[in-house]
Amino acid sequence: MKNIEVCTVEECNSLGKKVLTIDGQEILLIHSDGEYFAVDNICPHARTRLISGRVEEGTLTCSNHGACFDLKTGEIRVDKIDEDLLEQIDVDNLPFGPLKTYPLQITNGMIVITV
Ligand code: FES
Repeated sequence: MKNIEVCTVEECNSLGKKVLTIDGQEILLIHSDGEYFAVDNICPHARTRLISGRVEEGTLTCSNHGACFDLKTGEIRVDKIDEDLLEQIDVDNLPFGPLKTYPLQITNGMIVITV
């Protein structure tokens, strides 16, 4: 595990979302409602990039089929999954796992991600 300074808080605030490539891994940095989150940029359902997803109320919804993930835990929010996707899957036996999340901290105005 290592800590990496990725950008300033101001830069993240102005962009809202930013894709980072760290050791070949795409990580999505998100600023929402005063909080910061770092998650994989690739949806675990069918590998769509999540940069185009919708962020609201601490969740990220994939733009492809509507899977919704909790930004803190990466767990799937079944209560917010798109109805079309719900009809295709068994919610008691989800065919894909949670979204990977990364711890982060803010140090001297810099966002530091642990990978
Ligand atoms: S690829 Fe993200 S929900 Fe299907």
